[in-house]
This record gives sequence, structure tokens and C-alpha cells, in this order.
Amino acid sequence: MKLKDKAALVTGGGSGLGRAISLLFAREGARVIVNDINIESAQQTVEAMGEAKPRGLAVKADVSDSAQVRAMFDEIEKKIGRLDILVNNAGIAEATGEEMDRLNQKFEARVGEALGGQGVQTQWEVVSNMTDEAWLKMIGIHLNGTFFCTREAVKLMGGERGGAIVNMSSVAGLMGLEAAPHYSAAKAGIIGFTRAVARELGSLNIRVNALCPSFITTPMTEGISPMLKMMTSGQTPLGRWGEPPEVASVALFLASDDSSFITGQWISPNGGLFIG
Ligand SMILES: NC(=O)c1ccc[n+]([C@@H]2O[C@H](COP(=O)([O-])OP(=O)(O)OC[C@H]3O[C@@H](n4cnc5c(N)ncnc54)[C@H](O)[C@@H]3O)[C@@H](O)[C@H]2O)c1
Repeated sequence: MKLKDKAALVTGGGSGLGRAISLLFAREGARVIVNDINIESAQQTVEAMGEAKPRGLAVKADVSDSAQVRAMFDEIEKKIGRLDILVNNAGIAEATGEEMDRLNQKFEARVGEALGGQGVQTQWEVVSNMTDEAWLKMIGIHLNGTFFCTREAVKLMGGERGGAIVNMSSVAGLMGLEAAPHYSAAKAGIIGFTRAVARELGSLNIRVNALCPSFITTPMTEGISPMLKMMTSGQTPLGRWGEPPEVASVALFLASDDSSFITGQWISPNGGLFIG
């Protein structure tokens, strides 16, 4: 077991990648604190741990709210007393299904125009229409949330036990997604934050790295239209989207001693979509 006796917090652990990471870490011997804004889903993740269930703990907190994050860490300190691993994973994509439908339609119109060879007329008009609220919400959950959790985690980590922080970025932060400037900015910010904090915390024996997956099959991406899925799979050398366990295994690598000399880096499980 690669994480025996380690205490790990996974934010947004109630669904998708966070759930896959929580379940793998539990199988590898960790005591897993599963955070989510939706406590029922966090509890379902703990339920799914099977034999490891007694080592699971579901905790509700909105990571974009620093007071809730502090309260979550107070609970971790009281109940467990330390933290060895933090996975900053909680996140959102588009706020509503309606917005996703609009983006899908626009994308398909643009592809149709490009195939027709007449030049692309349909404009994205994403950044010009974005509200303050949508921008701030995206930055608040991904970037502020990563900072708020890291700030508290560092107080429970370090020393001889060391620590590992894994920040969920995205290929969006490496290459930019044309229809998601706020998401891309937040994910690129997470890479910059990872690099700076890795430099700061190395002397405390805390490693900090980022994960940059491409399209992975989770509830977050289920609203993406079949045509867009086909196009993005076609642009991927491995010819398909990834599955959550294919990201969880990389998170395990970054959280475990297998990556004991790796800090300040990003790794991108992306099937070759972005090669950099
Ligand atoms: N699925 C992909 O293709 C993909 C690709 C690259 C990066 N990512 C990133 O991976 C992470 C997980 O994505 P996913 O696909 O598993 O999505 P998901 O929607 O399946 O899961 C996200 C989880 O985060 C929780 N969450 C949302 N806001 C929260 C908040 N404020 N506080 C606490 N929890 C909150 C949700 O309740 C949900 O359980 C996100 O950061 C996402 O941006 C996903």
C-alpha cells in the first residue's frame, strides 16, 4: 500500500475525479477526508470505500469561503490531528445546462461553417458577455479555494512526515479553452500558484504539484455534445477521452513517495491532446 497511515483531504470528493481519487487513496491505505459542498455526495463516496470505510470521513465545506475552509480544518485537526496529503480538486465548469447548450450550439455552428468552406461567421462572444458574477464564481472556487485550503493545510503538514499537495489544474490552463476564459484563467493561476508554493515549502519537506487532465468522462463533462466529444477525441492522439481512474493513478503518484523528488511540476494525463 502506497499511502498506509497517511491522512489525505480530497476537496470536491463527492463526484467524478475527486471520488475516483478518494477511493484509490482509501484502497492504498490512507485515511481519507472527503470534502464536498454537497455532503450527501461526500457521504456516498465514503460509503463506496468498502472495507476502508471506517477510515473515511465526509466533511461539508464550500472551498470558496475561507471561514468554512477554516472550520473544516479545525474539524480535521480535532478528529485526526494532522494532514499528509491535500488534493485541491473541487471545481465547476459552466454554471447551468442552458449555458452548456448555447456553447454546444455555437461550437456546432462554427464546425458546420468551417466544413462548408465559407469562412467562420459565428462568433463566440463569451468574454464580452461574461458577468462579474460568473467570472468571480469561477475564480472563487478554483483559485481562491486552492489558496484557502493550502493556507490551512500547511499548518498541519511538514516536519519529518513531510507533505504532498496536488492541485487540479487542466489543459485549459496550458492551452486556453476558447469558450471558457474564466476557467482557463483560474486553471493557469493554479499552475503559477503551484510553482511559487513549491519553492516556498520545499524546505518544510512539502511537495506541491499540479495535474492538468484533458477531457475526462465525469458528471462535469456529460453536457458536452456528442459532436464536440467526437471532435476533441479526434484531436487526441490516443483517440478518446480519459476515464477518472486514469487521472486518479497520476494523483496517487504525485501524493505518494513514488514522486519523492518531484515538486513544482505539472503532469498532464491528456492522451496527447496537448504535448508541451
Ligand atoms: N472532467 C474533466 O474533463 C476535467 C478535466 C480537467 C480538469 N478537471 C477538474 O477536475 C476537478 C474535478 O472535476 P470533475 O470532472 O470530477 O467534476 P464533477 O462535477 O464531477 O465534481 C466536482 C465536485 O466538486 C464539488 N464542488 C463544486 N464546488 C465546490 C465548492 N465550492 N466546494 C466544495 N466542493 C465543491 C461538486 O459538488 C462535485 O462533487 C475540477 O477542478 C475540474 O475543473 C476536470
